[in-house]
Amino acid sequence: MTEELVAGRAWYDVAPSAARLTHSLRDIGYDFPTAVADIVDNSIAAGATRVDIQIEYNGADSNVIIADDGQGMSSAAMLEALRFGSRRSYARGELGRYGLGLKTASLSQARLLTVVSRSSKSVNRTCARSLDLDLITEWDQWVIVDPASTDWAVGRAREWLAEQTGTVVVWRSLDRVLPEKRPEGGWARRRVEALTRRTAQHLGIVFHRFITGLDDDPPVVISVNGEKVGPWDPFATDEVATHELPAQRFEVEAAGTIGWVRLRRFILPPRDRFSSPDQFERLSGPLNWNRQQGLYVYRAGRLVQWGGWAGIRGIDEHTKLARAALEFDTDLDGAFNINVAKMRVTLPAQVRQLLESPVNELCVLADDTYRKTYRAIGRPVPADLEVPSEVRAVTQSAAAAGLALRMAAMQADQWQAWEAIEALIRRQSPEIAELLGLTTSEELR
Ligand SMILES: Nc1ncnc2c1ncn2[C@@H]1O[C@H](COP(=O)(O)OP(=O)(O)OP(=O)(O)O)[C@@H](O)[C@H]1O
Ligand SMILES: [Mg+2]
Repeated sequence: MTEELVAGRAWYDVAPSAARLTHSLRDIGYDFPTAVADIVDNSIAAGATRVDIQIEYNGADSNVIIADDGQGMSSAAMLEALRFGSRRSYARGELGRYGLGLKTASLSQARLLTVVSRSSKSVNRTCARSLDLDLITEWDQWVIVDPASTDWAVGRAREWLAEQTGTVVVWRSLDRVLPEKRPEGGWARRRVEALTRRTAQHLGIVFHRFITGLDDDPPVVISVNGEKVGPWDPFATDEVATHELPAQRFEVEAAGTIGWVRLRRFILPPRDRFSSPDQFERLSGPLNWNRQQGLYVYRAGRLVQWGGWAGIRGIDEHTKLARAALEFDTDLDGAFNINVAKMRVTLPAQVRQLLESPVNELCVLADDTYRKTYRAIGRPVPADLEVPSEVRAVTQSAAAAGLALRMAAMQADQWQAWEAIEALIRRQSPEIAELLGLTTSEELR
């Protein structure tokens, strides 16, 4: 500790203990898939179009390699990148915010992090540095070391970087992934395999817009153990029978900043209106239909939180077809209180209030669709009835028209009148009512 006098007052330099703090920071809320996703954030921020992830089980020597073809880092930039709290500023829309992710996400799973990077297109020169938790603990110093020239991780990374710029992040000593006692056992292998599957799924969800291609940017190809990660679009926008209600934009003022929040609302098709049962299952998502309903909050195109209605209303079996995207840009970070692991936001009170009415409107319509269709499916369908694809397409479009009419009625504040019209159609032209998906009767209400 130093003691000096500044303007006549004593001050003391109390730098944190590296040994203590690095250990505490291991537990700020990452799990394996979210930690990998935070590294992929950096790759995308660096303009990568390919991110290759290898999760290699090899007992105690298991490792994770995340390689991108982004712009890479010079050796000075690499030193700054490995500082807890990297000193830098961010442009609007950049995924980084805290200057912590690379270190905290890596150390949440591993004791040894090695980064190898190449930033020059013309010159094949790489730089490599390691952050070694054991060394930091032993020295109680914020230190970065050069890996040995024979380090296999550096060799592997150089192969990836031989023809292109980019960055390779390697995690070793996976003490948070493997059991300390029997890292060689079958249980450990199965755990790594399960984490690999969950990671691929998680990446397909949170980066689905980047994988599909965002605005003018080229799509980002992410692969896990050689398998391309497919995008998981929560709103099934490829399905003909998915319905989007008019989008809304709100101006939000919080903590002295003014920014825009966009709300897009969708009613997904019920099972029989999906293009295939497989697609319906796929769209069910990891939490399943019920808990997968709700608000999907996107920050700069990256999904950070989903499942449930963020306190606006409860989840309900009858509104399980309702999903909505809430999008904000990084200028509203302060208002949304994004956490370091990029897994959680808090809706500002003002936004929650603005969302109440449009969200409730969406849920009423989704509830209506659910009751009508599920009752219709409840009726026995002849086992030998094969619906040809043209017929299915026509049925889907007709159902879409039915739903569009209902929404228009709702938006024009004519719901009661519409219910009377529906009842009339059902009575006078039951076959048209059936086609439009208006087949239910009031007794369900
Ligand atoms: N794959 C990469 N390619 C190029 N630069 C990178 C890469 N990964 C990290 N960096 C650089 O290192 C810096 C520190 O990364 P880190 O993830 O620790 O913090 P951050 O991304 O700035 O903020 P956050 O804590 O929100 O993730 C980045 O800002 C970036 O400049
Ligand atoms: Mg980051």
